[in-house]
Amino acid sequence: MRHRLTVIGSGYLGITHAACMAELGHEVLGLDIDEDRVRSLNQGELPIHEQGLGELLRRNLAAGRLRFGTDPKEAAAFGDLHFLCLGTPQRKDSGAADLSQLDAAVAALAPHLDRPCLVVGKSTVPVGTAERLAARLTELAPAGEAAELAWNPEFLREGHAVEDTLSPDRIVLGVRPGRAEGLLRDLYGPLGDIPTVVTDYATAELVKTAANAFLATKISYINAIAEVCEAAGADVVRLAEALGHDERIGRRFLAAGLGFGGGCLPKDIRAFVARAEELGTGESLEFLRQVDAINLRRRTRAVDHARELVAGSFAGRKVAVLGAAFKPESDDIRDSPALDVAAAIAREGGQVSVYDPAALDNARKAFPDLAYAASAAEAARGAEVVLLLTEWREFVELDPAALGQEVAVRAVVDGRNVLDPAAWRAAGWTYRSLGRR
Ligand code: UDX
Repeated sequence: MRHRLTVIGSGYLGITHAACMAELGHEVLGLDIDEDRVRSLNQGELPIHEQGLGELLRRNLAAGRLRFGTDPKEAAAFGDLHFLCLGTPQRKDSGAADLSQLDAAVAALAPHLDRPCLVVGKSTVPVGTAERLAARLTELAPAGEAAELAWNPEFLREGHAVEDTLSPDRIVLGVRPGRAEGLLRDLYGPLGDIPTVVTDYATAELVKTAANAFLATKISYINAIAEVCEAAGADVVRLAEALGHDERIGRRFLAAGLGFGGGCLPKDIRAFVARAEELGTGESLEFLRQVDAINLRRRTRAVDHARELVAGSFAGRKVAVLGAAFKPESDDIRDSPALDVAAAIAREGGQVSVYDPAALDNARKAFPDLAYAASAAEAARGAEVVLLLTEWREFVELDPAALGQEVAVRAVVDGRNVLDPAAWRAAGWTYRSLGRR
């Protein structure tokens, strides 16, 4: 059946969800408080870099199944399902999640909900949030208990957002007895036969946090082993390859290097620890503090390698940084390990030149004091050390001989273990890696 639904919050998650639901044939109204953003979305302009999403947006706008607005009253009148896709960033004063956007969205929408409807949370939240929001809905909505709530976490990866939404690994529905499960199964029906786990609010909320904590732990695990490999003269890349053949372990998320960043994993593990402490079970997630510490240590280690390559001091040295996005195929620089390293080197007096294929505009806004180049070759010109910090394909495929013509000194730190050490050494480079001899 074709549903009329609204998607509240037009960020990464919201735009993707809105466009994908329209693609399934539903009628969608996306909402945001930012009028400029709404205007450009209605003109088919995507404010983020996400492959395939621009076309999806424009196709569904043109088909009349999708539009964007700012008015919660209009949203309540338009839809029978309302998806909450607000950001839940880390609070400034602690590791906990800042739920103010989510709370504000519910407070704005609920007073207009005067007929039976389903509000569906997709944001990543501390366990217990859904219970609280359900009570708030009943209290504020003229429809009372007929304004139901469900929790349906989203697992999309940046760079694969459309694919992850249209063919998800699983669907998790946190519901109370009522119409919610049937409605959501019907809504997602066109996706085909997707494994679906139906459970309570708390479990649904925790599935998301537990999944991200597991992924972060897997990355920090291999990075801890990388530290040992470096100390012992072993090769973490070969080691990960060997581990990965064990099906119980698997090869994915064992790429050792500069570690994780972005708008999700770092803040989600911190919020998880903060919530566990509130629940009196802080000890259970104590290991996530180690996961965080190992991850941040990677950045220090990359800076140490580069400093050693410039004879102990960055002062007045030209340094090329390749990569600004927190991962390739993204222009997202939130908690980007690459920019963190670039800024640390600049603070020590290095003349840093940064290049990234997609994230330069965002990087410039966040780090106006760094210098930026229009290509990898330009960033490398005259450099005494080159750091590869985000594994964009164009960096992985760099020709060491050609890049060698640009630099003053052939010295490279492979922060993502993606270069062929033999080829780079053969071209006269001093090669350093995070976890390889
Ligand atoms: C993540 C989760 O994968 C997704 O399910 C969730 O919904 C949101 O958070 P995302 O932040 O888009 O998605 O990126 P992801 O591809 O998971 O990478 C996270 C970070 O880990 C990146 O900085 C990446 O460079 C790093 N990483 C990933 C590694 O350092 N090593 C790896 O082996 C894998």
